[in-house]
Amino acid sequence: MKSVINILDLSVEELQKLIDTANDIIKNPTKYSEICKGKKLATLFFEPSTRTRLSFEAAMYELGGNVLSMSDAGTSSAAKGESVADTAKVISCYADIIAMRHPKEGAPLVAAMNADIPVINAGDGGHNHPTQTLADLLTIYREKGGFDNLTVGFCGDLKFGRTVHSLIEALSRYKNIKFVLISPEELKLPSYIKKDIIQKNNFEYLQTTDLQSVMPELDILYMTRVQRERFFNEADYLRLKDSYILTPEKLQNAKKDLSILHPLPRVNEISVAIDKDERACYFKQVLYGKYMRMALILMLLEVL
Ligand code: CP
Repeated sequence: MKSVINILDLSVEELQKLIDTANDIIKNPTKYSEICKGKKLATLFFEPSTRTRLSFEAAMYELGGNVLSMSDAGTSSAAKGESVADTAKVISCYADIIAMRHPKEGAPLVAAMNADIPVINAGDGGHNHPTQTLADLLTIYREKGGFDNLTVGFCGDLKFGRTVHSLIEALSRYKNIKFVLISPEELKLPSYIKKDIIQKNNFEYLQTTDLQSVMPELDILYMTRVQRERFFNEADYLRLKDSYILTPEKLQNAKKDLSILHPLPRVNEISVAIDKDERACYFKQVLYGKYMRMALILMLLEVL
């Protein structure tokens, strides 16, 4: 029984299998429409979510399975002090697979160590968000045809942005990626990712505060929201929240085939005027997330 807590829990071959399965689901949805009949997914969300929880639930319904949903921790026995470990043991009696989001880094790992069924990390604090990375990878694959030889810019909150951490880890498995890290000084990428992933694997990288100066180089621009919920001090959030606002004018020196990604929700960091630009991929990315979660459920339930 396998759980996915970190994107590195999946090999490059497994990532490719998920991409191939997702592409097949997109082409042949009816082939998969009853494949999980009789199976149940439990979504345990101890933090707010729109895309991740609802796309997991849509994914299971589109596979013919059922869903047990806990979207408000305040109405569960966690509010009475039940531990994550006990919660995982209990849910194992009702469901076949768990998707868990939690504000505490490591909580889904604790769940996986105690559950009798596979656990998927649906986002843990400022740490990891591997299934968002699956959505990001399918988007990049469909836009660029692969992952090697890309210059990928990450812009915004690289400190708390868990989607950034997971995507950098995933891309580090491929060849000749150049990482361009664009953030305010206070929101730089954590040194454990810079040292253990980028430097250790000898990837070329550049750290800058200036998006405009690097724009012409980028094949992918991964914009992120400043993560208000991770700040201890509201004044710091207010000072930093609009550090980068992408507008059509700022794309004038960008490549014609740039792909603009964002895990969403967006607050102010991409102008709605960009939504009409054919380089904007973030709503396709939302849809691809559902297909990759379908593929992941099939893999972890060993249905395929
Ligand atoms: N991208 C993402 O995790 O969105 P939600 O917080 O809405 O799930």
